[in-house]
Amino acid sequence: MSFTKISKVYELLASSSRLDMEVPQVASWLGKAKRVLDLGCGLGAHSYRLKQEYGYEMVGVDVEVAMVNEGRRRYPGLDLRLGDLCNPPEGPWDAILCLGNSVACIEREMDCSLIFSKWKAVMAPKGKCLVQWAIPPKVGEDKKVSRSDEERSLEKSLSRTSETTYRLDLKVDFKDSSLESIHESQRLQVLTPNEIIESFEKAGWSDSHYRPPELDVGASHHTVETQLRGNS
Ligand SMILES: C[S@@+](CC[C@H](N)C(=O)[O-])C[C@H]1O[C@@H](n2cnc3c(N)ncnc32)[C@H](O)[C@@H]1O
Repeated sequence: MSFTKISKVYELLASSSRLDMEVPQVASWLGKAKRVLDLGCGLGAHSYRLKQEYGYEMVGVDVEVAMVNEGRRRYPGLDLRLGDLCNPPEGPWDAILCLGNSVACIEREMDCSLIFSKWKAVMAPKGKCLVQWAIPPKVGEDKKVSRSDEERSLEKSLSRTSETTYRLDLKVDFKDSSLESIHESQRLQVLTPNEIIESFEKAGWSDSHYRPPELDVGASHHTVETQLRGNS
């Protein structure tokens, strides 16, 4: 999927209640970290709030030009960069965040441990990392969500197409018909907590912990936190 059109409606897709819940949790996890890299940051909404409300030095990286441009327009002063999460910018970073479902966009054929090694290489000693990804439905089951605000309505559908992949379909209609409706579809990877943890450990990260999703807020994201004992 291209996030080009999605950039205009991303806050409706991601929902602000999710940010209200996650930003304080992420800040509490970040603790005394200073320099924080937000990979696959989308518009940079988490980064913006972490910078404004908690004073972290945030850098957001996203591969999609439209997301970065829209994020820069919304959050002037936030350091948003065009780039690939597989090749993070030079650090040293005290923490890396990879939130939402950005990690599920990585090609299945790609070895996650190679990516996590690259992340490790740009970390400060004892740097830490938090990865968040979504729960797909079971094979043959669909999950549908509808949302609307004053200007538009959105339908999101997740369909599991195999054990290892699922598809996200989006349809957005603008109520005053001023913009075309948006239809997008993307194949995403099904990742298991064990796969993520094993990839981190293989890449030399340690003390990885899995946190199950908090289903009551509608975000339903899995989380793995990990920390380096010391970066050589
Ligand atoms: C579902 S959004 C998550 C955005 C944000 N982190 C959040 O939690 O709301 C996924 C984002 O990952 C970006 N993305 C996908 N593949 C990427 C890659 N290889 N490198 C950097 N960003 C990537 C997409 O452009 C998109 O903005």
